[in-house]
Amino acid sequence: MPYIPEETIDEISARADLVNIVLGYVPTLKQAGARWKGCCPFHQEKTPSFIVNPDTNMFHCFGCGVGGNVFKFVMMIENLDFPGAAQLLARKYNVIIPEPTPVHRSGNISKESGYNLRERLFLLHEKLAAMYVSNLKNNPDSKAAEYFRSRQIEPGFALKFMIGSSPDSWDATMNWALKEGFTLEELKQAHLVSERQKSPGNYIDFFRNRLMFPIWNEQGRVVGFSARQIDKEQGGGKYVNSVESPIFKKGRLLYGLNFARPDIPKKGSVILCEGQMDVIAMHCSGCTNAVAPQGTAFGQDQASVLRRYTDTVLLATDSDSAGMAAVLKDAAILLPMGFHLKVVTFPGGKDPDELLHNSGPEAVQKAVAEAADFFEFLYSASASRFDSSTPEGKIRIAHELLKYIRLSDSDIVRDSYFNWLAGKLGLSPVALEKEMHRLNKAQSAPLRKREVVQQNVDTKKPAQDLPDSMSDRMLNMAMLELLEVALRNSACAEKVARELSPEYLDDGPVAIALAVVAQAFLDHEPEQAGRHIASALVSCEYDYSAVSALLAKEITGSNMELDLKVAADCLKMIRRNRLKKQVEEIRRQLLSIPAGEDRTEVLREFMRMTSELSKL
Ligand code: CTP
Ligand code: MN
Repeated sequence: MPYIPEETIDEISARADLVNIVLGYVPTLKQAGARWKGCCPFHQEKTPSFIVNPDTNMFHCFGCGVGGNVFKFVMMIENLDFPGAAQLLARKYNVIIPEPTPVHRSGNISKESGYNLRERLFLLHEKLAAMYVSNLKNNPDSKAAEYFRSRQIEPGFALKFMIGSSPDSWDATMNWALKEGFTLEELKQAHLVSERQKSPGNYIDFFRNRLMFPIWNEQGRVVGFSARQIDKEQGGGKYVNSVESPIFKKGRLLYGLNFARPDIPKKGSVILCEGQMDVIAMHCSGCTNAVAPQGTAFGQDQASVLRRYTDTVLLATDSDSAGMAAVLKDAAILLPMGFHLKVVTFPGGKDPDELLHNSGPEAVQKAVAEAADFFEFLYSASASRFDSSTPEGKIRIAHELLKYIRLSDSDIVRDSYFNWLAGKLGLSPVALEKEMHRLNKAQSAPLRKREVVQQNVDTKKPAQDLPDSMSDRMLNMAMLELLEVALRNSACAEKVARELSPEYLDDGPVAIALAVVAQAFLDHEPEQAGRHIASALVSCEYDYSAVSALLAKEITGSNMELDLKVAADCLKMIRRNRLKKQVEEIRRQLLSIPAGEDRTEVLREFMRMTSELSKL
């Protein structure tokens, strides 16, 4: 390493505690024996496979294969080069890195001190934030101060969030920074100055006469600003945000995360707001787990940052159509990543800030506590537009909800909400499943593609796969349910033996188990079925956890009539599914017969099957 002496690196290595550092990013990391285990911050996972070994001060993820020492971890998580990571650690553990080159007071930053640029920019922003705070305080008669008072931010919180004002001047900020020893180059790198269009080479302040909100990164360093207009006549839009710089990357940033990070795991959720005034209002109201994207729409990168802290997101957008659209857009990003979502609404205000001022902090807390499950919220929103008592209305509502239910990454979640929706609409899951198919067919491929691109959703499977995977899942559910009743009720096992011909069964674990149950019945030893299944599955190459879970379950009281009804329904569904696939197959065969050749035989078979299918 050219800039940092070997001894300094050794000293950092000796002092840095990797477990402690990882805990700062993965608060859910838990001690497991001699090592620590948690969900990997570098890829999406639900079962922890990220290991930290305190003895060697090394980490490794068995899921994605990354690993290394404390420097590697900081480089990866903070997106830094080696000297950058070393600096961050040196600061944290009070190790002094000898200054390699003096920082020049003017002109370009020398190449050698390039690694120092980030640190200089942090320092510049931190000092500037403090300057803006004193500027606001020292000019109580300014328009900015007047506007600030009108926002009625509690003094303690205004201090905590370091709200200030940029001077009402073309160059006061620039002159202040140069006097503080920063260079024009540094100001340019931070986009704190802009070049005058009419006189190139001359610069003016980027932020002028606005209310200033410093933006912190996850580690609590100031990396940029968001600047609020103080009167409508002022040009440039309501908010002006810092331009991306070596230290300000919008995609990963969440405003308020530096304050919220210890409280998100404690509260078990994060509140995702629209803007900084919302975040401040939330924190003022005691909801200290609130954050907001900064200067950009919420995206996948921010979602992965949140994933390290919690799996529950409370969406708290404005109560207007833009807010509703944001809820749907955020859900489309968060659901495929396995988040559980709730929606906060603000009765008596358009956003948390309004609600706080209209009704006080308790009202905000109440709104948060009463957040609705996302799908319940979507159902209510949909049912308020469509009449859920008519078939037409049910279809509309079903379509709106299925669009999101199918985005969830978990089979269990999808199936639960699928059944829940069927119950809500008073439909059988089978009818809903048919509707799902119709929906998928009705939506032409290009339309679906556009929709997916629009939502910028990175669904795991291509959209075209959805109808099949949905019906396969339903089929699997039906088989599993059939297996359950057949295991606890020999009358159902008999039904399986008589009605489920082996051709309906593929080589999956549930099918194998069903075949074993049927055979055990025919062999007059239905009570042996469980044991036989276990041995039959040993060599099964598929994941059979669903079946083993069923076998591990205690068999509780059965209701003969109900079980038989369930068995009949499931059998019907399995038969129908199988027939549907056969019809599809024959249709393909028919289409592939060249014109002029005899098709009667195949056609007859096709007719026979379709009529059978229509009977079911
Ligand atoms: N925003 C932005 N640029 C704009 C408008 C908004 O970057 N021209 C961002 C800001 O981060 C803002 C957030 O979007 O905080 C939410 O916008 P909006 O709802 O318009 O602002 P409020 O939070 O309601 O702010 P205020 O109460 O100051 O009007
Ligand atoms: Mn708003």
